[in-house]
Amino acid sequence: AKLAVFASGTGSNYDAIIEAINKGTLDAEVTLLVCDRPKARVVEKAKRNGTPSFVFDPKQYAKKEMFESKIVEILKEAEIDLVILAGYMRLIGKTLLQPFEGKIINIHPSLLPSFPGLDAIGQAFNAGVKVSGVTVHYVDAGMDTGKIIAQDIVNITDEMTREELQNEIQKVEHKLYPETIQKLISRGESS
Ligand code: GRF
Repeated sequence: AKLAVFASGTGSNYDAIIEAINKGTLDAEVTLLVCDRPKARVVEKAKRNGTPSFVFDPKQYAKKEMFESKIVEILKEAEIDLVILAGYMRLIGKTLLQPFEGKIINIHPSLLPSFPGLDAIGQAFNAGVKVSGVTVHYVDAGMDTGKIIAQDIVNITDEMTREELQNEIQKVEHKLYPETIQKLISRGESS
């Protein structure tokens, strides 16, 4: 399967996907990186790995529809099967959603529907919940509201700091995301 990874930041989930592909546990290829922050670390990583990328600055476009229709064109040209949002800090608009409905997935660092939106880890930590986790879900027009595909839990002990919680969440993400993508590919939902 041909994947397009969308990211805005560090790209540790991008790394985990590449690693799973290299190990042979994920039968796919990252055909494209899409990034809306030219200075993001993930851009450097893609360059090093030889992943072709489309990096853009949203400020250069008058409207969201304009960069999204450009992205749609590139995704179609590259014959992308599945769009993988991995820390892409932007809502997906109609222009991109309609042609790829059911083919866009996201990872979120909480057990949805709890703690959607920004800083889900901080939200869970401040709420004092004793169990949080990670959710992989289909993307719809809402913020972290699409159909849930997979979840895994992280226990929050009384001694845990926010940073420790973040590390635990990331470990779970890096395992859950490649595994879930592989399941979707095996089920034929991405071809
Ligand atoms: C992850 O925690 C993911 O759940 C959230 O954004 C973060 C991206 O991290 N949507 P990275 O750029 O993959 O390291």
